[in-house]
Amino acid sequence: MAILDKHKFIETNATLLLVLSFLVVTIGGIVQIAPLFWLENTIEDVEGMRPYTPLELAGRDIYIREGCYVCHSQMIRPMRDEVERYGHYSLAAESKYDHPFQWGSKRTGPDIARVGLRYSDEWHVDHLRDPQSVVPESVMPKYGFLEARLIDATHIEDLLATHRIVGVPYSDEQIESAYADFKAQADPDSDYDGLLDRYGEAVQVRNFDGAPGISEADALIAYLQMLGTLVDFSTFTPDASR
Ligand code: HEC
Repeated sequence: MAILDKHKFIETNATLLLVLSFLVVTIGGIVQIAPLFWLENTIEDVEGMRPYTPLELAGRDIYIREGCYVCHSQMIRPMRDEVERYGHYSLAAESKYDHPFQWGSKRTGPDIARVGLRYSDEWHVDHLRDPQSVVPESVMPKYGFLEARLIDATHIEDLLATHRIVGVPYSDEQIESAYADFKAQADPDSDYDGLLDRYGEAVQVRNFDGAPGISEADALIAYLQMLGTLVDFSTFTPDASR
């Protein structure tokens, strides 16, 4: 029982116990933290992720301004009930262009990380205007005023440039064309080839709120309809090395 006696000696000497505990915690800390300095990328890149288009980015700003994140999360956890209800769990790469991230911690309403294309644009217009008209028991406030507020987007280049400062890889061309791209995405009769060249063929181009002019509802719906649609999960396989 010699070893137990030695342990008793440690336990009855506060200073020694403190020094040894500190050593153990230090080793544990180094083992956890040191590898991070040799990792090139803490986020596994995933095909399909792209920076938001100017219209989507403007919609995201409205989402933040209106406090939608106070009731809606945008992070599906890797648990069975969540995955069955909302779809594939969220990947880190899916929010890598979000500054700040919109994960949220409160779910008065459902998670909306994959709400894109689940409903029609008309449904979103009706739902924003009067949530109770489509979901009678809803406690979501009405946001009909967004339709009436047109966006002039005079500062849209600055918005993209600011996001570039915090790490979103917008090219000079994307920043220069921001105003044209903003207009083009909400107008299916426009020449939107440049927008698709810059952001990918999958960008959704249409009059989102069905009314003339680009309103805050157009931008918000463009943003909502994009959420969770960028990565194709029917072909997604996680990197085996992780
Ligand atoms: C007071 C809390 C609250 C706020 C704030 C709120 N919502 Fe909701 N939202 C809900 C609730 C509850 C539901 C579920 C019932 C329904 O569909 O209306 C919901 C549903 C939704 C849905 C449908 C989700 C689905 O999968 O069926 C969308 C989209 C949505 N909200 C968008 C928004 C947007 C955009 C904003 C900000 C402009 C917002 N919400 C603000 C509570 C809220």
